[in-house]
Amino acid sequence: MSTRRERVDSFSLVDWGCMNVSAIILAAGSGTRMKSHKPKVTHELLGRPLVQWVVRAAQDAGFSHIVSVLGHGREQVAPLVESDTTIVVQPEQRGTADAVAVALPEIDSETEAVVVLSGDCPLITSQTIAQLVEARAEVNAGVAVLTMKVDNPFGYGRIVRDSADMVAEIVEQKDCSSEQAAITECNSGFYCFDAALLRDALTKVDSNNAQGEFYLTDVIALAREAGRAVVGVVAEDATECLGVNTRVQLAEASSLMRNRINRAHMLAGVTMWDPTQVWIGPDVEIEPDVELYPQVILMGVTKIEKDCVIGPHTRLVDTFVGEGSHLEETIAEQARIDAHCSCGPRAYLRTGTHLCEGAKAGTHVEIKKSTIGPKSKVPHLSYIGDTTMGSGVNMGAGSITCNYDGAHKWPTEIGDSAFVGSDTMLVAPVRIGAGSIVGAGSVITEEVPADALALGRARQKNIEGWAAEHRQQQSES
Ligand code: UD1
Ligand code: CA
Repeated sequence: MSTRRERVDSFSLVDWGCMNVSAIILAAGSGTRMKSHKPKVTHELLGRPLVQWVVRAAQDAGFSHIVSVLGHGREQVAPLVESDTTIVVQPEQRGTADAVAVALPEIDSETEAVVVLSGDCPLITSQTIAQLVEARAEVNAGVAVLTMKVDNPFGYGRIVRDSADMVAEIVEQKDCSSEQAAITECNSGFYCFDAALLRDALTKVDSNNAQGEFYLTDVIALAREAGRAVVGVVAEDATECLGVNTRVQLAEASSLMRNRINRAHMLAGVTMWDPTQVWIGPDVEIEPDVELYPQVILMGVTKIEKDCVIGPHTRLVDTFVGEGSHLEETIAEQARIDAHCSCGPRAYLRTGTHLCEGAKAGTHVEIKKSTIGPKSKVPHLSYIGDTTMGSGVNMGAGSITCNYDGAHKWPTEIGDSAFVGSDTMLVAPVRIGAGSIVGAGSVITEEVPADALALGRARQKNIEGWAAEHRQQQSES
């Protein structure tokens, strides 16, 4: 897992050694603008819930401790964060300062600095978080604020700087004067605080503002009053601060993350005909010299070894693909495809499918919970379920395993080098011996011994001249 993570997001604060920095992730809000029955931070971006992107960035940054503040829909959010963070509950969403105050008792007294992150900003990187922590430590500032320069600042808190270019205060949209509203440097919602200052300042924040909320941003002015410096770190890439409030922003964030991930893969040696049509999840590993055609979706813990050609129109989830395999129009979930296999067009490999080296699952083929032995071929129009197939087997076109009797699933075994003729039904449980041949159109209900010929079909009968007579009768009537 860690190597995959490092590829996209490799910086770690662990390098700082002795410094003790904790993180608080704010995720108590409801996210009404998502128009959803689910809490906002549970919505997925490239297969990973929004809040987990932030948790992962925090973990990569190497914090000694991470606290998540949950509120709305916490039953749904908690399972996503409980294994990696300490959960606290903010019973009522009274503002960002209140949320941080709820988390503070969980932060141990050794902590020198506290970073606050928004649970709905999935694009933040560990590098930027580290930059913020370093910027504060460098001058022992009371606060370092991550800021962003945007064309349309509406809705954001504005960064007011003093003559020394330090941050004097942050003014929320609803509290802005017209002069302040024209400021385009905005608060991203990411901060690093001196822990002692934060503890003290939070006791002084009030809710005397346009929204009647306890604003975390008020800590900035309080820090200045206490004689501490506040540094504003301008984000090099403002898109890292993109918050997801609507489905439109979710799509924007998805495409930005897709670009980031695809770029890393391309720089690592993966060819993409059109990177805008390739969607790769964060836990996918791809070796160099893999070629991805358009309309490829790779999700979950998927690994593609070198020299594979994947797509077009292919979706792989939690699937392994060995080197040199070719997959076209293939859907695979929890499947293992060994080296030099060929799949599709239109192959559906369901959970528990294992194609051994050099095997083929061809056109309109569905396979479930089955092993297809080395160099075995299921080339056309087949369903194979609960089957163990040896090596060098050939399944004729349209042949299927009848694995389900309406109540139970039964196994099928097919020995090495067996040849199953087209349009054959193998009624499970059944065994087809090694080296045997099954005649086309058979319905096989009993074991076929090794090297035997099995025929399970009605004998053909020819009636000479019947067709000609039939036509004659029809023309006379
Ligand atoms: C906040 C900042 C604003 C900044 C913007 C960046 C304040 C007062 N304002 O505004 O300066 O430009 O973020 O996106 O902080 N939350 C809780 N509990 C609460 C309130 C909020 O956990 O009681 C969480 C939300 O779920 C969210 C984050 O805190 O993850 C930010 O809250 P939100 O209400 O979205 O802040 P903004 O009004 O956007
Ligand atoms: Ca808000």
